[in-house]
Amino acid sequence: MPLVAVVSPKGGVGKTTLTASVAALFAARGHEVVGLDLDPQNALRVHLGLPVMEEEEGFVTGLADGGSWRGALRGTAYGVSLLPHGAADPHEVLDLTRLLLDRPEALAEPVREMLADPRRIVIADCPPGPSPALSAILPMVDTAVVVLLADGGSATLIPQVADGRFLGRGTLAARAAERAALVLNQVDLGQPLSAAVLDVAGTIMGARLLGVVARDPGVAEALADRRLPVELPGSRAAEDLSLLAGSLLGRLSIPPAAALGGRAVLTDWGLRR
Ligand SMILES: Nc1ncnc2c1ncn2[C@@H]1O[C@H](COP(=O)(O)OP(=O)(O)O)[C@@H](O)[C@H]1O
Ligand SMILES: [Mg+2]
Repeated sequence: MPLVAVVSPKGGVGKTTLTASVAALFAARGHEVVGLDLDPQNALRVHLGLPVMEEEEGFVTGLADGGSWRGALRGTAYGVSLLPHGAADPHEVLDLTRLLLDRPEALAEPVREMLADPRRIVIADCPPGPSPALSAILPMVDTAVVVLLADGGSATLIPQVADGRFLGRGTLAARAAERAALVLNQVDLGQPLSAAVLDVAGTIMGARLLGVVARDPGVAEALADRRLPVELPGSRAAEDLSLLAGSLLGRLSIPPAAALGGRAVLTDWGLRR
């Protein structure tokens, strides 16, 4: 039932990294999870271990043809069901943008169908900034996880996250903004600027500061190694990501993980099934 949208006014802040890790951690706790890639970069599939070179037909790229979302689902080694965006060249991206501006229902309708199952958690990796894809699903979003970096450029954007300006104008955006929570990524407490941005985020966002993820060179290495950061033993980012997944789960109203009787199975870092 719940829809989580991972969003940001900026690109390159860790949206896809966080989406993949949180989705895998939810699945490891026995929840049914759909990872929905709405970003034309089509990168969520790679983070979730699908082959880099073999690109299958995607869910978003197939929207114009009205194909079924179930037909676009791909299994992953982490137990997350993936709806890849699909590979799209710049012309196709513009065509998809136009399609979603003209007919937001083309995306909203299948997402509504996905959410009809109360046990299913859908977590959407959104493109940076405003997008017609985000606008189409916004009324259904339970929690918008807004990702920013702990740097100066991001600090100036925190007030826009707090009052929801970056989600757009009007009552609908204001309603969605109430359900937005901030995650500060790449925090390095040894660096005064990073620590200061974290303080500012805490002051402005209060309880809506959902989580903090440490800067960890292992995160990029894990991707190169075809693993998730949460699979790195002893990594600070891995511990933070696990805490983030727990906090996020606490915000969502979902039945206990049915398949596993509600017990968490994450006793070690072995997430793969
Ligand atoms: N906590 C972290 N520590 C170090 N590097 C990180 C961290 N989170 C993300 N990265 C790196 O930052 C880059 C951008 O991450 P990505 O998830 O692709 O961002 P986005 O989806 O917002 O564009 C990647 O190279 C990733 O490995
Ligand atoms: Mg991304």
